Amino acid sequence: MASTDPNPQVNGQGLEKLRHAGVTVESGLMADEAEALNSGFFMRMRHGRPWVRVKTAISLDGRTALANGDSKWISSEASRRDVQKWRACSSAILTGIGTVLADDPQMNVRLEKGQHELAGQAPLRQPLRIIADSLWRIPAQSRILDDPATAIIAGTGRAAVPPELEATGVRCISLPARSGSLDLPALLSRLAEMEVNEIQVEAGARLCGSLLHDRMVDEVLIYQAPLLLGEGGAGPFNFGPLESMDQRTHLKLLETRRLGNDWRLRLKPEYRKDDVYRNS
Ligand SMILES: NC(=O)c1ccc[n+]([C@@H]2O[C@H](COP(=O)([O-])OP(=O)(O)OC[C@H]3O[C@@H](n4cnc5c(N)ncnc54)[C@H](OP(=O)(O)O)[C@@H]3O)[C@@H](O)[C@H]2O)c1
Repeated sequence: MASTDPNPQVNGQGLEKLRHAGVTVESGLMADEAEALNSGFFMRMRHGRPWVRVKTAISLDGRTALANGDSKWISSEASRRDVQKWRACSSAILTGIGTVLADDPQMNVRLEKGQHELAGQAPLRQPLRIIADSLWRIPAQSRILDDPATAIIAGTGRAAVPPELEATGVRCISLPARSGSLDLPALLSRLAEMEVNEIQVEAGARLCGSLLHDRMVDEVLIYQAPLLLGEGGAGPFNFGPLESMDQRTHLKLLETRRLGNDWRLRLKPEYRKDDVYRNS
């Protein structure tokens, strides 16, 4: 077998039963590959939080939107189809209120014929949509709330949930605040309690920057399009400014793939003790 089950309720018990019955059992075969297939479950069992993948579309000059906030569309249709597959593999999609107010996205899975099988799911299960919104600013008619049963708004006790939001039937969870915003580690551990294993973050620079600041980004998917968006648009992670190159963030390049006219990069942040992230 590849690995033992890290769930403390079962860890090693099946293995012992087999051994007891006289079956020779070896574990650790292709352990890394097995780990990668179940990264969300392993992360939740070992660290009490889901696996966090940040997906972002950027231009050649590293912008995620124009200075006026418009970001539709940066990546090609091929990239956007690819994103749907990653969404379908996720237990939840996390976004920020900034993105909801700017783009009014649905953040659901819309697979085309043939893609369904690739995502390995039948029938299709919609991931939860989670909105980080400290002050419950989300308009009740937002498209992300079209199916309130699969959405969660994570806010804080700094404001009361507006009655029109409550009337939609969406689940509103109140979490501790930290530096005026949502305490993201608290959000992730609450989601782990709800058995959410794998989260795809599709948010603006602020929420993504905060997650990086908390060292809670495990994987980054970048769709880079051959476009130039010019001055003023935000990058994918808001932090800094740094004072020296020693403070730069390193990411390990895991994979590159061409999708239509774009490149998809899959990266893993390599956190170091002396990394400095300061949200500006
Ligand atoms: N190219 C892409 O892939 C892509 C993807 C998504 C969005 N975008 C673009 O990004 C822009 C929006 O970016 P944004 O940075 O304003 O929005 P965002 O990151 O989606 O949302 C930011 C908001 O989330 C809330 N939040 C709650 N807890 C937080 C925490 N701990 N840390 C940070 N934020 C927290 C804050 O508002 P409260 O304090 O009020 O809760 C904050 O203002 C839009 O122009 C959109 O089109 C681009």
